[in-house]
Amino acid sequence: MTQLAEKRDWIKNFFSETGSSYDEVVNRFTFGIDRLWKKKMLSKIPSCKKVLDLACGTGILTFAIKNKYPDCEITGVDITESYLAVAKKKAETLESKGVSFVHAPAEDYLPDKGFDVVTTSYLPKYADIPRLMHNINKMLTPKGIVIFHDFTYPTSKLLQYTFELYFKCAQPVGAFYYPEWKDVLIELPKVIRKSDWISEVTNAMSEEGLRNITVESLTLQGAAIVSGGKFKTLP
Ligand SMILES: C[S@@+](CC[C@H](N)C(=O)[O-])C[C@H]1O[C@@H](n2cnc3c(N)ncnc32)[C@H](O)[C@@H]1O
Repeated sequence: MTQLAEKRDWIKNFFSETGSSYDEVVNRFTFGIDRLWKKKMLSKIPSCKKVLDLACGTGILTFAIKNKYPDCEITGVDITESYLAVAKKKAETLESKGVSFVHAPAEDYLPDKGFDVVTTSYLPKYADIPRLMHNINKMLTPKGIVIFHDFTYPTSKLLQYTFELYFKCAQPVGAFYYPEWKDVLIELPKVIRKSDWISEVTNAMSEEGLRNITVESLTLQGAAIVSGGKFKTLP
């Protein structure tokens, strides 16, 4: 098995049991801050016609974008079926038109249509960034923009201590109330500590010739948004 195939199997396994409780857990375990981060991402999305939400999961961001721009056509892509099942159910309940979901690895998704905006939340630390960015660049329309969001390991010693303390408390509490999250809460801080996704994303954006690359640190250095686009000046 290749390294990429192994990584994908690991990801599918990592997320397989948690789709149905994801929305509740992400909201509770970030103390609602995930909603603020999503709002921040939304504030960076200009009026658009076609949007691609990579690693859409249960569609939290996907439907928030649809809610902001009801006429836009939006595609969510994810590798984990149990998360997509929740997203598809939401689309049925909301009778959402112009929202579709595709089961695929984000790095391999390359339809021959252009997107004005590509978003992704919590994917960068798991992704093959150069491959992902290469395909995103091919899919972006001439004025297209891309917005990445994920957790970050703080650089400040004090905030590193807060990060470690948070997971020390979250692990037993999470395992008690949501046993299916036990392993995720153990592995997640390791993945975050190891990841250098901001540098990887900004480097890959530059390699692909994207401009206006900005990095915004969020909430006690706990996350960041990196964006860039094909345009010369901000829209
Ligand atoms: C923590 S969830 C975030 C879901 C959603 N973006 C959100 O913010 O609510 C992470 C998602 O990334 C997906 N994922 C991880 N690696 C992926 C990859 N290489 N391709 C597609 N999806 C991936 C997982 O299946 C999971 O649904």
